[in-house]
Amino acid sequence: MNDEAGRDDVFRIAVLASGRGSNLQAIIDRLHGKGTVEIVGVASDTPGCEALARAESVGIATRIFPVDEYDDNRVARDGAIGDWIEDQAAKLIVLAGYMQLLHATFVERFAGRIINVHPSLLPAFPGIGAIQQALEAGATHTGVTVHFVDEGVDTGPVIAQREVPIADPADLDALTAAVHAVEHELLPAVIEQFAARD
Ligand code: GRF
Repeated sequence: MNDEAGRDDVFRIAVLASGRGSNLQAIIDRLHGKGTVEIVGVASDTPGCEALARAESVGIATRIFPVDEYDDNRVARDGAIGDWIEDQAAKLIVLAGYMQLLHATFVERFAGRIINVHPSLLPAFPGIGAIQQALEAGATHTGVTVHFVDEGVDTGPVIAQREVPIADPADLDALTAAVHAVEHELLPAVIEQFAARD
């Protein structure tokens, strides 16, 4: 099998990220370039974010789609992101800390092929500050969810969840570290399942 044919066996994914990129790093470290999964592009709305630097440092293609370049026209911006993803022939789109809502046109275009990681046991504590929300609610446990993306905020069908206990007394920094550690396991594991089914 030559190189070109070999690449056809690889499950191609695109990642959308806005910030620190620790989940992107987990995918890079655990899956990228190891034979079954390849990150073919990382797109962001945030110029200069750490996620872009992480991708560039290992030679992954990056693109920025800033909100203001599209006159706040989400259909146009998400259309451009979708065209770029199709150019990369990605089969799965992974949101890893992507802070923009995706328009319904994008969700329909890639139906069943967009997943997100969220730091709570959805439907509990959707939206931003999910770990803090769990603490403030006095919950005894929280967790991590990987789910399909729809037009809502953290509302799509759940794919996988893992629980994280909350210590008493609770400590936000320790809980945040524990939740992120679970994210970094669960998200790559789900991507591997998609790759195995492909
Ligand atoms: C993670 O907690 C993820 O669950 C949420 O946004 C955060 C992104 O962190 N959707 P990072 O940029 O991957 O470090």
